Amino acid sequence: MIIHGKNLNRSASLIAIKGERFLSLKKGLLVGSLSGLVVGLFFGCFIASQRIHDLQSQVENMERNMLPLRSLADARGILVGTAVSATPLRNEALYAETLSREFNILTADNAMKFESIHPAQNLYLFEGADAIVSYAEANNMKVRGHTLVWHNQLPSWISMGSFSREEWINILRDHITTVVSRYQGKIYAWDVVNEAVNDDGSLRDTVWLRNIGPEYLDLAFRWAHEADPNALLFYNDYGGEGLNQKSNAIYDLVNGLLDRGVPINGVGLQMHVSLEYSPSPQEVAENMARLSNLGLDVHITELDVRLELPVTEEKLAAQARIYQELLEVCLNVDNCKAFVMWGFTDRYSWISSFFRGYGSALIFDSSYHAKPAYYALWRCLLNSSFDQETSDGS
Ligand code: G3I
Repeated sequence: MIIHGKNLNRSASLIAIKGERFLSLKKGLLVGSLSGLVVGLFFGCFIASQRIHDLQSQVENMERNMLPLRSLADARGILVGTAVSATPLRNEALYAETLSREFNILTADNAMKFESIHPAQNLYLFEGADAIVSYAEANNMKVRGHTLVWHNQLPSWISMGSFSREEWINILRDHITTVVSRYQGKIYAWDVVNEAVNDDGSLRDTVWLRNIGPEYLDLAFRWAHEADPNALLFYNDYGGEGLNQKSNAIYDLVNGLLDRGVPINGVGLQMHVSLEYSPSPQEVAENMARLSNLGLDVHITELDVRLELPVTEEKLAAQARIYQELLEVCLNVDNCKAFVMWGFTDRYSWISSFFRGYGSALIFDSSYHAKPAYYALWRCLLNSSFDQETSDGS
């Protein structure tokens, strides 16, 4: 569903009304639940559960009738997306339905990484990545390719490999050329190099730096460009979203690439944040602006906002504010073209296995119900589409 101009205006007014009704229904559901419980105590469970059930289905109907994020994002001219896992995409209808309904861009969470796609020297396994790319094509979604050169999730033939420098160069060239060529014309943007910089701004000690030297960065971008001249090429990292030693080093790194005529189109800001730590929106805006001055785009590539468990309404509201502020930053600068989250349902998120005691980082809960963060993004996109319409003079 793509909505433009006055149609958007009309639809949006309708939705704004629906949104209000939706919120009051949610309150109704809460009040209904409480009063239902009291009634249940005195008059038995049947009436109470009927009422809760009715309210619940009204809420679900409202949810079904709201414009999805991708329609609002299309109208605003921005990409809104998520990382995707191959297994639930194959096995879980609600996962796939929610994905194609809400997002206009996706990225593979693991399926395109070296260990998944190139597990042995003479073996490429494309099944998971192919399925994700086909799904995107079938549902008119763009794809971010993630990732060609990284120090993590490497197969043992690489992490424990012993080769000459020339052989390492050939290995990396073969990997990049094979993977990028396979999806030539199908990948909107590649994370060519991921996380090559330490927090103190030095280059990370990786298998690629040790065995090839710092020029592995230039080579990787050049090979990717040769294999798919139309794909946008990104350097992607975490912790350099605001202004700090790391983002300064990333700025210098990409500036150096540009000076040497290396093909690079943008910087990915991962944004794995929490209520305790999230970069100031002003700093993120300044960082984006200085990259824009270099002629580079930025994508928010892996946003999630983890919560310390247990989850409370206050924490969900604070989480929603962070999602909203970061989307606002992206919408307010010219060079931020994509807002991508690292998953969409708390059912599948990397957080609980990497941060003990944390979870609930995404915009849908584990039953695929939209959380306050979803509505915050939704409202923000809606308002921004109106602003866009007004400034277009329509
Ligand atoms: O594939 C094996 C499977 O065979 C085994 O049975 C299972 C048992 O634990 O592990 C599976 O591998 C896991 C893999 O994800 C695939 O599910 C690894 O243990 C696990 O460490 C790995 O985690 C991934 C993590 O990158 C590794 O660093 C997360 O799923 C993935 O979401 C995460 O993504 C990264 C981005 O690529 C880069 N930026 C940071 C982001 C979050 O860490």
